Amino acid sequence: MKKYVLVGTGHRGILSYVRPILEEYQDCAEIAAVCDINGKRARFVSEYLGHEIPAYTDFDQMLRDHRPDVVIVTTKDCFHEHYIVKALEFGCDVITEKPMTTDEKMCASILEAEKRTGHKVTVTFNYRFMPIFAQIKQFVSEGRLGDVFSVHFEWILDTSHGAAYFRRWHSIRANSGSLIVHKSTHHFDLINWILDDIPVQVNAFGSRRFYGPTRKERGENCRTCAYKDSCEFYYDLAADEGGFYKGLYIDCEDEDGYIRDRCLFSDVIDIEDNMSVNVRYKKGATMSYSLTAHSPYEGWKMVFNGSKGRLEVSAFENVKVDRPEIFRFYDREGRAVDYDLRNVRRRKGGHGGSDTTLRDNLFRGYTADPLGQMADTRAGAMSIGVGIAANRSMKEGRSVYLKEFLGDFYPELND
Ligand SMILES: NC(=O)c1ccc[n+]([C@@H]2O[C@H](COP(=O)([O-])OP(=O)(O)OC[C@H]3O[C@@H](n4cnc5c(N)ncnc54)[C@H](O)[C@@H]3O)[C@@H](O)[C@H]2O)c1
Repeated sequence: MKKYVLVGTGHRGILSYVRPILEEYQDCAEIAAVCDINGKRARFVSEYLGHEIPAYTDFDQMLRDHRPDVVIVTTKDCFHEHYIVKALEFGCDVITEKPMTTDEKMCASILEAEKRTGHKVTVTFNYRFMPIFAQIKQFVSEGRLGDVFSVHFEWILDTSHGAAYFRRWHSIRANSGSLIVHKSTHHFDLINWILDDIPVQVNAFGSRRFYGPTRKERGENCRTCAYKDSCEFYYDLAADEGGFYKGLYIDCEDEDGYIRDRCLFSDVIDIEDNMSVNVRYKKGATMSYSLTAHSPYEGWKMVFNGSKGRLEVSAFENVKVDRPEIFRFYDREGRAVDYDLRNVRRRKGGHGGSDTTLRDNLFRGYTADPLGQMADTRAGAMSIGVGIAANRSMKEGRSVYLKEFLGDFYPELND
């Protein structure tokens, strides 16, 4: 039986970790206490889940009182490093949500602390456990594409999911590193993992054209807005069933001032909503990647051009679009083979069932991991490394090499 504590009792912390530990992993895991900078939000955990769990605002005190084996970090991204390093120094292992952190200085601090203390950090890349991505990984690992020469990858967020990032803390670069770190860490990790390669050089462009101060009709937040009746983006935070959002955010506002339904057209927003990135990998593959945060539909498209043919995979996640997943291989004779994904084992749970499989591996341990789906700090660093390099490239208008900030930890980047 391992003892866990969690810091950051928001949406992800409660629903993806505290509740499952209490309800599905009682035989192997105990959640001893939780902590949040917002004391009301920390105390809401017990109220919402109906279990008495000690709630702290002082992280060090929580560690001293409970002496956990593992600390789970689910705070706002920019504070991951602070808690990861403290937990390692206290003698704990760490499970941290993605992105591992948001900039190069904090990334170096985590890598250094892990090496110095000998304790371990696991980064939870749940997307690796989505059946369709595992299928791609298997296809490429089996050599069915031959050498992969290039990748084209487009991630498309619609005006519901995409907009949600621009209402919340994510839309301020200092919190999230922008979407190219916060969101794209999943995507860059997938490609690093599928190619079994490391990214060495990055060029990027970005712009904000849809959200931010792009219209006159805007306010502070939806609840107080004068344009509530006419704005197509009006969002009723209090409308969720069971009062989860009300209890977690509205009732806690007076303690930290965090407004969860801030206007999408606010002038405090400073992240991009269009991003375009080129990456060169160590073994020679190149990738063109784009992230759009305001599309009419939601989904993604991945293309791999290899020596034996071309693999095209796409999935549409918006219920308004009734199109199946496509997994199509074109051989060198131009024949197209469609793979039927209906028999791929899918589990219930968040992010296409991937959260459930990830948790089994985290809390029950795993005996075999043939596809290498569990991720460490190297994967965490290499994926945010592309985002951090992309941010630098956009700012400085130049090509950025990951060795500039990760070379001391990973000499293989110094090609
Ligand atoms: N893997 C995934 O698919 C996935 C999905 C959602 C969120 N996440 C990650 O989970 C984390 C939390 O996201 P969320 O959606 O739950 O956000 P949230 O806003 O609901 O929760 C964040 C929590 O962090 C707390 N916090 C902020 N600053 C803090 C500090 N200095 N010390 C302690 N607590 C602090 C906030 O009070 C809040 O309770 C993020 O890192 C996010 O990237 C991952």
